[in-house]
Amino acid sequence: MKTIHDLAEMKREGRKIAMVTAYDYPLARLAQEAGVDVILVGDSLGNVVLGLETTLPVRLEDMLHHLKAVARAKGEAHLVCDMPFLTYQVSDEEALRNAGRLMQEGGAHAVKLEGGQAVASRIRRLVEAGIPVMGHVGLTPQSYYQLGGPRVQGRDPEVARRLVDDALAVEEAGAYAIVLESIPWQLAGEITRRLRIPTIGIGAGPNTDGQVLVMHDLIGLTFTPPARFVRRYADVAGVVRDALSRYAEDVRRGAYPSKEERYTMKVEDWRAVKARLGEPEGGEKEASEEG
Ligand code: KIV
Repeated sequence: MKTIHDLAEMKREGRKIAMVTAYDYPLARLAQEAGVDVILVGDSLGNVVLGLETTLPVRLEDMLHHLKAVARAKGEAHLVCDMPFLTYQVSDEEALRNAGRLMQEGGAHAVKLEGGQAVASRIRRLVEAGIPVMGHVGLTPQSYYQLGGPRVQGRDPEVARRLVDDALAVEEAGAYAIVLESIPWQLAGEITRRLRIPTIGIGAGPNTDGQVLVMHDLIGLTFTPPARFVRRYADVAGVVRDALSRYAEDVRRGAYPSKEERYTMKVEDWRAVKARLGEPEGGEKEASEEG
């Protein structure tokens, strides 16, 4: 299993970290089989799996439910789980209890939470308790309404300065890695250069220590046009839509199931069953012995 120390070593040796989100057993299993380094049970669960507009309504129980399924897909990947909105902002105690549940009940190896200087003391408290924390700065979806939607962060010098300070504060608080979301590639490269811990970019260009994409964006299982930074490696929605319409058509024209796709019994057994069942009242149409 990959640990936070392996990820640190990857940064030192200049080896890129491949991270992807997953929310269920089959896709987590495929991610494990594909050999990704880090699987994140992201609270993007809300958008891509639960059909919500934002990540804000996602609850700890939702994360736990999906995390447990992902954790059942055993493999080498490091498993991180997002702390959803309001599970770590209120107090150190709540943050600790909730992060502890994600690890103890859900099987996470680490938790991720959003924010910079404002959450630094919280990160420190979790790390002191032995919980590895991944930070997340730049576009932080839990601040959707404060940021005014999914906008690129850090083009303005003041905001860029704050983002650098946020990332440094997260590192200083003891986080072992940090996600940089939707920031110009030059700024992401500069933050990566200034930090000792690995940076993992999403919409942050090539100069980070690793990349993360939302699984459903990457495999083409979403219903809105992808963001500029998304590379689609497959059209799973197209494959599934085609399979389902061919299935429905086969059912409607009686082409499914075929003789090979049904269970049967010997004629004498069927006669015995029929004798035991007797005739229905009203004498309905008899089923054929041959089928
Ligand atoms: O929830 C999520 O999927 C994330 C990634 C975008 C990093 O936080």
